[in-house]
Amino acid sequence: MFTFVTDFDDKNDYRTMEDNKQERFPIVDESGEVVGSATRGECHDGSRMLHPVVHLHVFNSQNEVYLQKRPEWKDIQPGKWDTSVGGHMDYGETPDEALVREAGEELGITDFQPVRVGQYVFDSRRERELVYVNRTTYNGRVCPSAEELDGGRFWTLDEIRAAIGKDILTPNFESEFQRFFLTPKDEKYRLLTEQIGALVKGETDAVSVMANVAAAIHSEMGFFWTGFYRVIDGELRLGPFQGPVACMHIGYGKGVCGTVWQRRETIVVPDVEAFPGHIACSSLSRSEIVVPVFNSQGDVAAVLDIDSRELGTFDDTDRRWLERICGFCRM
Ligand code: SME
Repeated sequence: MFTFVTDFDDKNDYRTMEDNKQERFPIVDESGEVVGSATRGECHDGSRMLHPVVHLHVFNSQNEVYLQKRPEWKDIQPGKWDTSVGGHMDYGETPDEALVREAGEELGITDFQPVRVGQYVFDSRRERELVYVNRTTYNGRVCPSAEELDGGRFWTLDEIRAAIGKDILTPNFESEFQRFFLTPKDEKYRLLTEQIGALVKGETDAVSVMANVAAAIHSEMGFFWTGFYRVIDGELRLGPFQGPVACMHIGYGKGVCGTVWQRRETIVVPDVEAFPGHIACSSLSRSEIVVPVFNSQGDVAAVLDIDSRELGTFDDTDRRWLERICGFCRM
C-alpha cells in the first residue's frame, strides 16, 4: 500500500481549541478492518496507532474543485488552502457515515454521492492515519462553517497546478491531489505494472499471483470491484478478488466475462446497461473492462474483470496496461 511519510503533524485536527481528547477513535489494520479503539489523545501522542480519516474532494461540473481556507488562528498550517472536507472517523461509524457528518459540519452539504477513489497510510511523527479518499460532483450551495474555516472557493485545476510548491496549499493536500487527480492514468499504470512485476517475479502458483495482482490493482487504482474468474470444468468460476461479493459461475459466451472468453479479446463496456446480457453482480457497477488471461498453450485460462461505480471509466489506456498485467498471470 502507498504510504505518505511526512514531518508535519495532524492535518485533520481542526478542532484543536475545543478538542475532546477522550473522544474514541477506531483502531484499524491497513485494510481498514477495525481491530480496537483508542482515545483521540492516545492516537495523537506519538503512539502511532493506525486510525481512519475521511477526505472528500468536492468538484463542480466544470471540473473545478472546492478548497477550504484554514483560519489564521490554527496552530497547524494556518491560512493555507486545504482539501474540501477532512475529518476523523468516530468509533462505530462507517467511512460513508463519517463523510456525510463531516461534509455537513464543514461545508453544510448533505445531498451528495461520494465515490471512493483510493486509500493510503499517512505517516507523521505524531500519528498514523488510514486515509479514505473520496470525490463527489456537487453543484449546489456550499456554506463553509464560520467557526472552523475562513471560507473557501472553487479552484480550476490549472490554478492548483500553479499554486503547488508555493506555500499556498497544505502539503498534504498537494501530495494527495497530485497523486489522485493530477497524475495521468498512464503514469499510475506504469508504476503499478512495475510494482506487480516485482511482486510476482518467480511465483508459479496462478491463484497466489492472481490474488496479489487483484489486490495491487484494486488498492492503487481505487476501483469498485477487481477480480478474476478462472476457467474450470467448462465454466468461469469466481477466483481471487477485492470488493463486494460476486456471482460465482458464468457460462461460456454469457455476460461480459463469458463473451471475452469466447472472443479471446478485451472488452471495454462504457455503460453496463447498454451491453446485452451483462450480468449485474451489483447494481452500483456502471462501467466495466474484462481482459483475457491466456495459459502457455494459448487458451483462455481466466479473465480479469474490473468494475467502476462511474460511467465510462475505462478506455484504451486501461486496456493496454491491463493486458500487460494479465501477462504476469500466464502460467
Ligand atoms: N459483470 C460481469 C459479471 C461479473 S461481476 O461484474 C463481478 C459480466 O457481465 O460478466
